[in-house]
Amino acid sequence: MILGVDHIGVAVESLDTALRFWQGSLGLTPAHAEAVAAQGVRTVLLPANGVRIELLEPTGPDTPVGKFLARRGPGLHHVCLLVDDLDAALRFLTASGLRLIDALPRSGVEGSRIAFLHPAAGEGVLVELKETVRR
Ligand code: CO
Repeated sequence: MILGVDHIGVAVESLDTALRFWQGSLGLTPAHAEAVAAQGVRTVLLPANGVRIELLEPTGPDTPVGKFLARRGPGLHHVCLLVDDLDAALRFLTASGLRLIDALPRSGVEGSRIAFLHPAAGEGVLVELKETVRR
């Protein structure tokens, strides 16, 4: 079911400040920047040998990432795993009694189909599932 790790999400107060570390100090190059209005977040993706770092800056305090920052401060936010069939994965996980945030797929960055599992299901780790692009 799981094909690999797509990206690691990092909650940041400021993309500009975070890029000083990820780009300026570590030398990663931003490959994609996108605002996801529905999630209240601005993102920058930095590839690192197949896995990407996804920086997440909230557009306000009343957004999922804004609340995360207020509660826990900046840091690791989620791990995104690739699946080939998101609908089948969600059906399987629902049937096995796992807690989900998204019972149905929604749209993520780059027009992808994604869904979040509940962090309680992952022992405190928020897991995002992302469907590979169908050709
Ligand atoms: Co993500």
